[in-house]
Amino acid sequence: MHYDERLDRFLVTRHADVRACLRDRRLGRNFRHVGTEDEFKAEPLDPRWQAFWDVERWSLLFLEPPEHTRIRKLVAAAFTPRAVESMRGPAETLARELLDECLERGRFDLLYDFAQPYSITLICRLLGVPTDRHRDLLDWSHRHVKMYEFDTTEEQAQSATRAADEFREYVLELIADRRRSPRDDMVTALVEARVDGGRLSDDEIVSTVVVLLNAGHEATVNTLGNGVRALLGSPAQWQRLVRGEVPAASAVEELIRFDPPLQLFERWVLEDGVEVAGTPIARGEVVSMLFGSANRDPRVFEQPETLDVGRSNAAEHIGFGGGIHVCIGAPLARIELEASLRTLAERAPQLELAAEPVRVPAFVIRGFRAVELVTAGTN
Ligand code: HEM
Repeated sequence: MHYDERLDRFLVTRHADVRACLRDRRLGRNFRHVGTEDEFKAEPLDPRWQAFWDVERWSLLFLEPPEHTRIRKLVAAAFTPRAVESMRGPAETLARELLDECLERGRFDLLYDFAQPYSITLICRLLGVPTDRHRDLLDWSHRHVKMYEFDTTEEQAQSATRAADEFREYVLELIADRRRSPRDDMVTALVEARVDGGRLSDDEIVSTVVVLLNAGHEATVNTLGNGVRALLGSPAQWQRLVRGEVPAASAVEELIRFDPPLQLFERWVLEDGVEVAGTPIARGEVVSMLFGSANRDPRVFEQPETLDVGRSNAAEHIGFGGGIHVCIGAPLARIELEASLRTLAERAPQLELAAEPVRVPAFVIRGFRAVELVTAGTN
């Protein structure tokens, strides 16, 4: 445990302690169901960004039981293993198509030209959201998630709020459309779902669709960018994949462990008497769990600073969280990452970095601005 004065937060760094926090029901993503902003020393939500808070209000990420349980159950009912597994074929086909276009071009940005259209298309397909506006969806999402960082500027908050407003309008149109003409898709399922005798409100559906669309590509795209950068920086590891010595599925786990796209998640301490790693933490405090650090804990991972695509316990990483908020999209993310990594290794074994990628200057969401690649012989 480390108390960071500048952030005024406890940072939890070890694997066992992060895992214990994720599972501890006395810690919550939100406190508003059990106390006031005064008690929790929280800044009131800035009314200038109300449109943003409205869209976040029913996001699974910020709900606690019983609201969380109610909505999560519905989403889980649509994310059946069968529905997710049915994405494997489309994921493989799309990975090949997109990569072929990239390779024809010679030099390409793995994020913009491959990973973004790939992930947004697949999550849209699963939800039943048309892909004709996928660049808008990506733009709204990139602006939206800036609110999850520390030190969000006023300009970023304004932009996130405008994005939330446009995103909301768009989803409301979709809801109206599916009410008029139901289809076999997840938006229709949310519109028609009955919970505890009632239906979901439009606000609840909007938040749910937005969180699924945003969470459904941001982390996957950055995992691929961080992962391919790491692999090309360790050519021996890339070669193990190219030669088929290690299944792409195992490599995916190691890439998430080695450089996770989501570095920090927070919990409020909701009750008195909580201890984390032997340190008492008062009700009202915030603990920040450092996933990147937990994933490099030498108590769990031997030589944690080394990328080893065949690491036998890589899947013990904390990348997908745990407890009641554990990533609901993890099976889909794994399918997408496995298919894209395998396609890259098979069709572009000579892949090289065209330039050293530059990090996005952010703390929570870790990724690159671009990952420019070439295959040997092109430039
Ligand atoms: C490699 C890719 C991904 C990573 C590393 C990742 C990671 C995470 C983590 C760490 C959480 C837990 C947050 C917390 O404990 O507060 C989470 C939650 C969530 N993820 Fe993912 N995710 C990924 C892909 C996806 C995909 C593809 C989807 C959508 C289909 C998705 C949808 C969600 C949702 C809806 C939640 C909220 C669940 C809840 O609060 O009950 N994620 N994800």
